[in-house]
Amino acid sequence: MTARIAPSILSADFASLGAAIATAERGGADLIHIDVMDGHFVPNITIGPLVVKSIKRVAKVPLDVHLMITDPDKYAGAFADAGADMISVHVEVLPHLHRSIAYLKSLGVQAGVVLNPSTPVVAIEEVVADVDFVLVMSVNPGFGGQKFIPRSEQKVRAVRALLDRAGNKAPVEIDGGIDLSNIALVVEAGVEIVVAGSAIFHAPDPAAATKALKDAARSAALR
Ligand code: DX5
Ligand code: ZN
Repeated sequence: MTARIAPSILSADFASLGAAIATAERGGADLIHIDVMDGHFVPNITIGPLVVKSIKRVAKVPLDVHLMITDPDKYAGAFADAGADMISVHVEVLPHLHRSIAYLKSLGVQAGVVLNPSTPVVAIEEVVADVDFVLVMSVNPGFGGQKFIPRSEQKVRAVRALLDRAGNKAPVEIDGGIDLSNIALVVEAGVEIVVAGSAIFHAPDPAAATKALKDAARSAALR
């Protein structure tokens, strides 16, 4: 199975989000990845539900909303109402992760859990049967354009193995520092959803960059 490409609009021109999304979709984007940051959990502030609602009106593909916020239980409902199709929440901020996952599902969205680079895979062991996807951060969250942390490849393999042991076919997503130099590596490790921000929106032709990543992921999946 080949990987889906989820362009992260964090690296797009916020004055022309609709055009950026259309360009990524023309290149074959399977999802649009939306990075929500609150200035507390991560040192940056980005997008709220109002912007997601506007994006929902123009996007043709599902919206993958990544909540890098201190209190996702409080705001997930607003993002679901705004049109999120997938919502992922960081395990580092959730003491009642099992309840939070059930809550996301009750909102009618696909429920994902996210692991920071320093968070061990064991943190999701008790909920792994319940999740719709797992997002492995391959940079420390907060900014686009950072360097891929090589150890993330092993982490993807460990998360895939954990899901498999639980009989859960949910995909593993990766986010941070992905480009043409490392996409094959992570797809071979078991990634099925690839987030890419700067590699797409800082490229001279974001549609071509999306397509190139998709082609690279496809070849890697066939190996
Ligand atoms: C980082 C965000 C990422 C980011 C990825 O906190 O979660 O989604 O936009 O950007 P690149 O692909 O440039 O690392
Ligand atoms: Zn993200």
